[in-house]
Amino acid sequence: MNVVLCVTGSVAAVEAVKLARELKRHDIHVKCFMSDAACEIIHPHVMEFATGEEVVLGLTGQIEHVKYAQADLILVAPATANVISKLTYKIADNPISTLLVTAFGYETPIVFVPSMHHSMYRAVRDNISKLKKEGITFIKPKVEENKAKFPDIDDIVLNVLRETSAGDLRGKKVLISTGATYEKVDEFRGITNLSSGKTGVELAREAFIRGAEVTLICGRISVGVPHIFDVVEVESVVDMQEAIRKHVPTYDVFISAAAVSDFRPVIDEGITKISSSEDLILKLERTPKIINEVKKLNPEIFLVGFKAEYGKSEEELVSSARERMKKSGSDLIVANDVSKEGAGFDSDSNEVLIIDDNILKVPLTSKREIAGKILDKVTKNSNR
Ligand SMILES: Cc1cc2nc3c(=O)[nH]c(=O)nc-3n(C[C@H](O)[C@H](O)[C@H](O)COP(=O)(O)O)c2cc1C
Repeated sequence: MNVVLCVTGSVAAVEAVKLARELKRHDIHVKCFMSDAACEIIHPHVMEFATGEEVVLGLTGQIEHVKYAQADLILVAPATANVISKLTYKIADNPISTLLVTAFGYETPIVFVPSMHHSMYRAVRDNISKLKKEGITFIKPKVEENKAKFPDIDDIVLNVLRETSAGDLRGKKVLISTGATYEKVDEFRGITNLSSGKTGVELAREAFIRGAEVTLICGRISVGVPHIFDVVEVESVVDMQEAIRKHVPTYDVFISAAAVSDFRPVIDEGITKISSSEDLILKLERTPKIINEVKKLNPEIFLVGFKAEYGKSEEELVSSARERMKKSGSDLIVANDVSKEGAGFDSDSNEVLIIDDNILKVPLTSKREIAGKILDKVTKNSNR
């Protein structure tokens, strides 16, 4: 895949080095253009080093603006108020603005990562709206400490992969639950589980790359979530149930990857801290099986369930997964045995069976790889 990275004169130009190297790590060939203002902030040598390619600083008889305009994607990161405004009016007065006007004419995908002071951002808002209507993608700044900051490199790379993918989930709304629920014993103590939320986050990444609109319903997790996702944070099983009930009716796919507690303590209303002066017997009651409600709320939704078992044979695993499938009306079940080495809750890898009418055995591999295999099935079967 070929990406042209245009670096313009914002202080965030210093981030372009890391960005170029991360794109290359994803096997993307990067050709860099730099504006004169960007060269005042970082030296072109560093971009030449990061990309392994000569940097385009001026146009020559090689008509670089035409030569590179049909790349798979033009990424302007960071994008100044100046470069955004020039493309709004199709001004071509330097190598980058000329490349962008040419690429626009070829309908090459263009992605801007705006980076500027708030006041400048406000001033060019109308230009951004106009370009969005013309099909240009803008990656939202990361909002922190009341400031609009350059997004995480990972967020930009995800957007690049999305813009250049086959987009086989484009137009689909995908809801994913992930992480562990937490049930209060008192105000300071509770019952939870070892789920890291990794599988759900990897599924969200993969669905996003394939073009879906993704919402994550997140319990407690120990991994980072890309800022570009819509996230609904929940704590207890009841919170999770409410969030799922609210969203499921308007989504096309629901992947239930959260580790939802099967039990919750029966506690007295208003209890703050249970005294440790005596032994305690905790009564646990069963929680509702949320997945069984989903098809009643939206019979058209493509439903993916998970079934984790401990120390079961493959036949037993398949049989309990099929039972779950029947009860919940799931279209697909991902089953695994958490007793296996390197597989399960708080690990980077897993070994699963993906079960519908057939059984796909996925040997021990990364959770990212598994997310891809699950999404392959979702893409194929939900588009039927
Ligand atoms: C140190 C420094 C930092 C700057 N940071 C920004 C910025 O973050 N965003 C922006 O739009 N302009 C910023 N500017 C102003 C631009 O560099 C200026 O508008 C320039 O004309 C942009 O040219 P270009 O779009 O061709 O790179 C900065 C200028 C300097 C000297």
